[in-house]
Amino acid sequence: MSERLYIFDTTLRDGEQVPGCQLNTVEKIQVAKQLEALGVDVIEAGFPISSPGDFNSVIEISKAVTWPTICALTRAVEKDIDCAAEALKFAKRKRIHTGIGTSDSHIKYKFNSNREEIIERAVAAVKYAKRYVEDVEFYAEDAGRTDNEYLARVVEAVIKAGATVVNIPDTTGYCLPHEYGAKIKYLCDHVAGIEHAIISTHCHNDLGMATACTLAGVLNGARQVEVTVNGIGERAGNTSEEEIAMILKCHHLDIDTNINTRKIAATSRMVSSLMNMPVQANKAIVGRNAFAHSSGIHQDGVLKNVETYEIINPKDVGIDDNSIILTARSGHAALKHRLEVLGVEVNNEERLNDIYQRFLALADKKKEVTDDDILVLAGEERAASHSIKLDYLQVTSGHGVRPVAAIILDIAGEKFQAAAEGNGPVDAAINALKNIIHRKMTLKEFTIQAINRGSDDVGKVHMQVEYDGSVYYGFGANTDIVTASVEAYIDAINSFKK
Ligand code: KIV
Ligand code: ZN
Repeated sequence: MSERLYIFDTTLRDGEQVPGCQLNTVEKIQVAKQLEALGVDVIEAGFPISSPGDFNSVIEISKAVTWPTICALTRAVEKDIDCAAEALKFAKRKRIHTGIGTSDSHIKYKFNSNREEIIERAVAAVKYAKRYVEDVEFYAEDAGRTDNEYLARVVEAVIKAGATVVNIPDTTGYCLPHEYGAKIKYLCDHVAGIEHAIISTHCHNDLGMATACTLAGVLNGARQVEVTVNGIGERAGNTSEEEIAMILKCHHLDIDTNINTRKIAATSRMVSSLMNMPVQANKAIVGRNAFAHSSGIHQDGVLKNVETYEIINPKDVGIDDNSIILTARSGHAALKHRLEVLGVEVNNEERLNDIYQRFLALADKKKEVTDDDILVLAGEERAASHSIKLDYLQVTSGHGVRPVAAIILDIAGEKFQAAAEGNGPVDAAINALKNIIHRKMTLKEFTIQAINRGSDDVGKVHMQVEYDGSVYYGFGANTDIVTASVEAYIDAINSFKK
């Protein structure tokens, strides 16, 4: 019989730590429900002591989700554990994830401590968490660079204290796959009582080896993997959930997960769209080129027999080539169906109608409305709640013309207008906006992305604006890229704290 590998999804904790990826509670619930439909075993819902927003999200996700275990992160600190236990009070299945750095550099520079004291603090934290929940996971931060003998002592002590899962993070993404695999094997072979706990992998992708290290961990005895959708996460990200799920499906390793792989594409799109984090085109499994054969030799082979160049059936990850193409003649039902396929739940008629009206406006400008367009439309409500809105924008630019822009903003119901010149159309429009909003703000990062191919396509703009010592993220999407840029700027301004 196959062995079971537990999938621990940390998209909403490690993934959400990425600047610009922050979600509000409603969006987190949407992702959590999609993760439940995908079949993950554990959802790490947040780090409750870190902010009231995280605390509240853990509470609301606990209420919204039924069968996955809800996990909350803490440091090895009593007040963190108290806070996590409180946030988890509505979870049907709950886990506290506590831990401490175990590498010599963490012990010396982070804690100004010594190895023995760290073991005592680890044991105390696990015992304290056990007062609240049965299921306690311990993480040995920077285990990747912790020497194996000492790590085995830590793991043995926390299992004795009651840890049910022990997480061995390669926090800095430093390990080579064979080293990481050997580390897991060392623990399986040398820790007394190891059979009382599950060993978990948690790998970062700084050197592009997160998936390889995770797999090496699994082949050497780990039975839980900590992963994120699209591999998002701090710096270069975490191990990608879809890669692990599909490796186990394609190779017959006698190790099964509970993942419904047909939900992978919808989950990937939802996370990418809500977190404003584009998926690179050549990303394994979920990149838009992952199944596109462009060379003549490949196309010829695939037409003769798909097995020649295709190891995964796109349908197995939820990519449906026969998906209905939406045009201006499509009705509410077709749009609702497509939204559901894309993982967007719309159970409110008013909201559906609102998205539908915007869909019709877009379909008038474009021949075909793509899945990405629909996800952008579905995400536009965020702009509706803004107190500063773009009411009107006219820009004149061209070859031999000094660009000028005229703008009208609606600020809490009152209209303000201004005009300005600039080095280009976007510069002129932003200068005009700054003639209304007199704040000292600086554009730090600005990316424009066409969603698909044609010149009639929706452009997505991601921006970072610095104001009063903080950096704020903004997003805009429009068939007019100057308008999308101004919308992104306004989106960032609306999130200023004062
Ligand atoms: O990378 C890491 O070490 C972590 C721990 C907090 C689990 O994310
Ligand atoms: Zn991590």
